[in-house]
Amino acid sequence: MPRLARSEWYDLTRDMNWSLSYVKEEEVWPAELSNGFGLPAEAWWVWDEPYKVTYPEYVHNQYGKDAGVYAVNAVIGRSKVYEQLDPGWKSAIIAHYGVIAIPEYLASLAESRMGRFGRAAAWRNMATFGTLDEMRHGQIQTYFPYGLLAKEPRADWAHKALHTNEWGALAARSLFDDMFTANDAVSTAVQLTFTFETGFTNLQFLGMAADAMKVGDVDFGALISSIQTDEARHSQQGEPTIKLLVEHGRKDVAQQLVDHMFWRSWRLFALLTGLSMDYYTPLEHRGHSFKEFMREWICKQFLDQFRDFGLEKPWYWDEHFLPELDWYHHALQLGIWYWRPTVWWNPDAGVAPEEREWLEEKYPGWHDTFGGHWDVIDRFLGGQIQPPTMEGALAWMGLSPDEMGRDATDYAWAQAAPHDRSAARG
Ligand SMILES: [Fe+2]
Ligand SMILES: [Fe+2]
Repeated sequence: MPRLARSEWYDLTRDMNWSLSYVKEEEVWPAELSNGFGLPAEAWWVWDEPYKVTYPEYVHNQYGKDAGVYAVNAVIGRSKVYEQLDPGWKSAIIAHYGVIAIPEYLASLAESRMGRFGRAAAWRNMATFGTLDEMRHGQIQTYFPYGLLAKEPRADWAHKALHTNEWGALAARSLFDDMFTANDAVSTAVQLTFTFETGFTNLQFLGMAADAMKVGDVDFGALISSIQTDEARHSQQGEPTIKLLVEHGRKDVAQQLVDHMFWRSWRLFALLTGLSMDYYTPLEHRGHSFKEFMREWICKQFLDQFRDFGLEKPWYWDEHFLPELDWYHHALQLGIWYWRPTVWWNPDAGVAPEEREWLEEKYPGWHDTFGGHWDVIDRFLGGQIQPPTMEGALAWMGLSPDEMGRDATDYAWAQAAPHDRSAARG
């Protein structure tokens, strides 16, 4: 068989659209699975992905990536590298695996929906590669923590978390179900690939990859760098989809989909990335603060992309989103550290004197808002309340036994005859 040059067959095989004659459009692309938002079917045929790859190239590249990253894992798994990692960093990666591993697999369902219900052949072709990517990400991020089980039994939360009712898992499941598994193909391209992947997973993966290398976690660094190379490719399904919506007068749809999912993604990533970067990563290895990272990756680069498409920044940007960069993840840190039995990792308080200085430098006013105040628990644990008992605490508050509150009627309400409910029922 003659070997054809790639250019002679590529466009024919990646992008072969056809008109329907035996079935109706809405039977092939029902709105629940693929909302065309009123664009004529053939308008979608010019959909053009910026990054192009053939199947043989794809397989060759992915094979190489997997061979490299599993080799690193095999070597590190036999070493003492994990045991020597900083405890806060270990918490960051155990939290990451719990929130991310299964949702990566869920993302393969979203990709496969676009692989079937995407509205152009080139798009369905790209989404098929995306499906394979996300299966790889789900597998690799359950395999690596599996290898840690002997050292950290809670690594099994990589698989377990999303199947529980732990509160963070509930929040993650709600977000990912709405965005990945219960969304139509067109909205998925805008919300999952553009808003979530181009915006936020870049943030989590690039930020964590840089920090991983600094703290000496070669295993995790290699893993997420490898994943990021796939994300960079399949996240590009959003751009041509938004372009077509805007060109055909449906800028309102694109804008609303972005506004909606940006806000929800921000809330989850503040929890995951915010705490990891500003509290869990050891101080000496911190590069940028979470806020600096958000400003560079989201406020500048991602916003430029919105604007290139003719979209506006979300309506809540100046009034609600930017101010939250100063306080939202600090408030989460406070709540999660106090309620630490409710999470599957060990929250790192991250407020030793030199860490407080760093926080004050990166977030002027941090000390007054989050480090200034001694509440009753702080004083109790800090030894200011003596003896450290209930009686000691009441005396410290200035309450003598005669002055302490009692039931106003001395429980008279409890002495009254019980109401006969069976009589009322007749
Ligand atoms: Fe992924
Ligand atoms: Fe992805």
